Amino acid sequence: MHSIKNFINNHKETFINELIELLKIPSISADSAYKNDVLNTAEVVKLRLQEAGCDLVEIHPTDGYPIVYAEKIIDPKLPTILVYGHYDVQPPDPINLWHSPPFEPVIKTTELHPNGAIFARGACDDKGQMYMHVKAMQFMTSTNQLPCNVKFMIEGEEEVGSVNLATFVKNNREKLANDVILISDTGMIANDVPSITTGLRGLSYVEVEVTGPNRDLHSGLYGGAVANPINILAKMIASLHDDHNHITIPGFYDKVEELSKEERAEMAKAPFRLENYKKALNIKAVYGEEGYTTNERNSIRPTLDVNGIWGGYTGEGAKTVIPSKAYAKISMRLVPHQDWEDITELFKTHFESIAPKGVTVNVKPHHGGQGYVTPIDNIAYQAASKAYEQTFGKTPIPQRSGGSIPIVSLFEQELKSKTILMGFGLDSDAIHSPNEHFGIWNYLKGIETIPWFYKYFTELNQ
Ligand code: BES
Ligand code: MN
Ligand code: MN
Repeated sequence: MHSIKNFINNHKETFINELIELLKIPSISADSAYKNDVLNTAEVVKLRLQEAGCDLVEIHPTDGYPIVYAEKIIDPKLPTILVYGHYDVQPPDPINLWHSPPFEPVIKTTELHPNGAIFARGACDDKGQMYMHVKAMQFMTSTNQLPCNVKFMIEGEEEVGSVNLATFVKNNREKLANDVILISDTGMIANDVPSITTGLRGLSYVEVEVTGPNRDLHSGLYGGAVANPINILAKMIASLHDDHNHITIPGFYDKVEELSKEERAEMAKAPFRLENYKKALNIKAVYGEEGYTTNERNSIRPTLDVNGIWGGYTGEGAKTVIPSKAYAKISMRLVPHQDWEDITELFKTHFESIAPKGVTVNVKPHHGGQGYVTPIDNIAYQAASKAYEQTFGKTPIPQRSGGSIPIVSLFEQELKSKTILMGFGLDSDAIHSPNEHFGIWNYLKGIETIPWFYKYFTELNQ
């Protein structure tokens, strides 16, 4: 790929500044107060894709936020790469834990990013990683080195479940036809240990409501005589794991694929230091399902976690009260073959069955999605691997991630194509947390690596 390094050197200031401009817009899809900002972000993405040399750039309205679609078809006989990314971001809360405002990007160095990192909500997830593709495209078109056809599909509702994107994909199979889907919305092991994400977990997200008496009660007059929904909810949640930290929902593990000894041994080769892991999180010990390592627990094993729990009096001082209601939000991360709708149903049946008579339970399913594993014995993976070899000087390690991008399995179902997950973030980049950041080295390395994927993928297809 002629001169990509020079191109980056000559333009890096602009690349960084353009990303900073994008990061200033608070495109929080979960909060309707930011509606105009989310819509504006779609406009900016559209403009940038035009500048990058796409022939057709469209904004597709949906029942929610729009999808930005762009393409450049140079020859229908050549392969087509479909790039997916998202321009929406997570809410920044808790805001007081940010060292600088989440939508006023600043560049600071860190231990892992000695060349600087951009701190802002969305820096890594996913504006920074999505924008690498726009800049890589600009390089290929402006130097006449685009080797194949490209389509871009950048959505604004990934962080809230991609519901409208699913409809768009189902209704536009022809338009979106491609030979491979390319996504940068995951991470890698370390800057000197490149890896390609080969799996994503599925997700089932539910909210539960436990109702006791018809009103809040004086905890002296009624305490001890009626069920306290918070006590009950805490007990019910605690019972969802046994003493070995296995999940107790009947049937939960039925479809879980047990990896062979060989596969587990292969996984264990990925560099990992438990001491560093604990130190980075300031914990004395890790915790999880018996019989599995930390890296297995967070990738090839399903989990159940409470994401939030509330009820009763939480204001200043003390109020003696037995609340009428208690709530929790619970997520289950799933592995391939576990169907998220089946699991949601199993959860609901089980949770209702363990409720004592003195309360009623209501389980409300939120969004979900299937897990995904990508094969490594195909052209697309080989092309990605060669691209990393070219720019990192090392063969990347295939590694399954614990995170979820539920739309990826729908892509496979509807468009019949595989996805390559070329993520350039680090786990420590604090996505969804205060002080999210993205290394400038990682950003530029992504821009450098992407055109090589295009080149090798096109060559290997011939
Ligand atoms: N980009 C993340 C997913 C991710 C991050 C996968 C790092 C692997 C490594 C994505 O934006 C995300 O946050 N997904 C959500 C699910 C979604 C339905 C809200 C998740 O994983 O919690
Ligand atoms: Mn993301
Ligand atoms: Mn995210």
